[in-house]
Amino acid sequence: MSNTTANCIVIDESKCIGCAKCVKDCVAFALYIENGKANVREGCIECGHCFAICPVGAVDMPAYDKSDCEAVTNLSEIDSETLLAGIKSRRTIRQYKSTPVEKEKLDMILKAGQYAPTGGNSQNVAFTILGSKQDEIERECVKLFRAGVGIGKNFSKFLKNTEISDNFFFKGAPLVIVVSGHSEVNATIAAAYMELEANSLGLGVLYSGFFCSCAKINPKIKSALKLPKGHKAVCCLIIGYPDVKYERTAPRRKHEVKTL
Ligand SMILES: Cc1cc2nc3c(=O)[nH]c(=O)nc-3n(C[C@H](O)[C@H](O)[C@H](O)COP(=O)(O)O)c2cc1C
Repeated sequence: MSNTTANCIVIDESKCIGCAKCVKDCVAFALYIENGKANVREGCIECGHCFAICPVGAVDMPAYDKSDCEAVTNLSEIDSETLLAGIKSRRTIRQYKSTPVEKEKLDMILKAGQYAPTGGNSQNVAFTILGSKQDEIERECVKLFRAGVGIGKNFSKFLKNTEISDNFFFKGAPLVIVVSGHSEVNATIAAAYMELEANSLGLGVLYSGFFCSCAKINPKIKSALKLPKGHKAVCCLIIGYPDVKYERTAPRRKHEVKTL
């Protein structure tokens, strides 16, 4: 097999038919055709478009696990009215059953985050499951909020009438995942994908902004998370089976939409 490599893209010249589909779709202009075959130069961001588009499977990414790659399912095949109805029906869940989240479901939720887009394909988003540390970390957060809630009541409408119970942060849910990253937007998109995947699995989700505030201001909580270097706790997803049922969707203010 004769190969052309740059970064982690390998093109099998014996398979390549020189169709240039990969060249046309390469965001980084890292691919070009020479002597009727695709070649790679510097600049590849490893987005995998060339791997995904090649009609003859001539592109490989040796550093990646491809066992997870599958035939394309277009989201357009999902009924869009059902999707929108599901988005409207989604609610923040604050009452949970103690039933654990099955490992297969957790894996699917993590995968939804892993496959979310990241700017420049940095893929620099990490997922920290609080696991055995969940109760200990919640106790620290509760302590912090109880000490500061007097001040909080003055500037947060949310906190005005709030009692900080022992399970104020995680609501007795069995699973807490902190989504972290260098970039807030990357981690937030990953978290949003994870929420929808969790919902589709019959699970409820709460984004805990209060928890992220604790992780930001309290060094003990921050260090307990052991986040990758340079990461901040961007979203905290509280996940479990809902112990509440909604009868209808909630109204929303008319949103501002402008066409310039
Ligand atoms: C970034 C973010 C942070 C949030 N933080 C909290 C929180 O700390 N505690 C809480 O009870 N709800 C929190 N929420 C839930 C919002 O209060 C909720 O989305 C909003 O009231 C609308 O309700 P809905 O999600 O059921 O439509 C958060 C939501 C988002 C998007």
